Amino acid sequence: MSISLKDKHTFGCTVAAKEYWEMSSIAESISALKQWSGVPYLILGGGSNILFTQTEVPRVLAVRMLGVELLKETKSFVEIEVGAGVPWHPLVMQTLQSGWYGLENLALIPGRTGAGPMQNIGAYGVELRQFCTGVNVIHRQQLKLQFLDAKACNFGYRSSIFKTEAKDQFLISSVRFRLPKAGFHQPNTDYGAIRETLMSKEIDPDKASPMQVAEAVMYIRSSKLPDPNELGNAGSFFKNPIVPMDQVESLQQRFPQMPVYPVSEGFAKLAAGWLIDQAGWKGKSSGPVGMHKNQALVLVNYGEATGTQLWSFAQNVAMDVFNKFGVKLEPEVNLWPPLV
Ligand code: EPU
Repeated sequence: MSISLKDKHTFGCTVAAKEYWEMSSIAESISALKQWSGVPYLILGGGSNILFTQTEVPRVLAVRMLGVELLKETKSFVEIEVGAGVPWHPLVMQTLQSGWYGLENLALIPGRTGAGPMQNIGAYGVELRQFCTGVNVIHRQQLKLQFLDAKACNFGYRSSIFKTEAKDQFLISSVRFRLPKAGFHQPNTDYGAIRETLMSKEIDPDKASPMQVAEAVMYIRSSKLPDPNELGNAGSFFKNPIVPMDQVESLQQRFPQMPVYPVSEGFAKLAAGWLIDQAGWKGKSSGPVGMHKNQALVLVNYGEATGTQLWSFAQNVAMDVFNKFGVKLEPEVNLWPPLV
């Protein structure tokens, strides 16, 4: 019997899975992987970073492994192992309430924990890689369990081996974090919007507690980013493009106010939201599809948009940005079926 995925992904498009299995243990996952060996299937977490460009998916494995296990505790830190199916934001709040710090800037990111390492989730100056010590995975062909340490995951900006060399090779079953305790952690409040929010609440950014930082992040996110429960979206639709410095310099001559974030020798990251905004797409819509009015990087389904409509709108935006700035935007969101 086919199952609707409309409420199982945050774009809220009409799409169905011919077969849909929820995996709540490693044993169940191995047995499903064995049965579906050689046929196409999709592994789905919280569905907060996916755009379906077809209305039918043959098979879906929904990852629902739960549990937070304390592996080690010292005076200065804890090491925990978190089931891939654990919803992310409640995990962040649970760690902060336990006095385990570090994840505060990643509050309110939608989705489940297993998706975190896939794209090395990041926000407001912090990335998952700073606190993730490794990932337990099942090899999808060999059906063997493996532990990949953080180095093996090869985390980069919105990237890891799970999106590159080892794409489609593993199912992530749990994620390990090493989180510092009070007295051993200084929250990151460098991001302008965080400092401003804290100061508006008369909190000294350099003395803010991790919970106060999480609250500031939640305040900023809710004022800028649409709530997927109210408006279909998957957060930033494109990655911030990384471009060579000579191109950045010639763009800066034309657009002196353009935000630029140096990343490595000879390269800088540009703000895709700014480029899209400057190209005139902020708040623009066509039928049920548009770029959000408060954050031009967020593609929105205002009603009954299909995945194809969303994708074709996004491609028009990317084409226009390319024509105006010579910069290629790439989706940050995963597409199903994947682009070849
Ligand atoms: N900007 C505009 N117009 C806009 C949007 C942004 O001019 O419509 C400018 C801003 O003024 C700022 C710059 O572009 O100077 C960057 O904007 P912002 O601080 O909002 O962050 P972002 O680069 O657009 C990234 C992440 C977000 C994350 C925020 C905060 C990516 C692709 N996106 O957005 O992550 O929450 O930083 O750290 O890296 C997500 O991945 O889904 C996501 C929401």
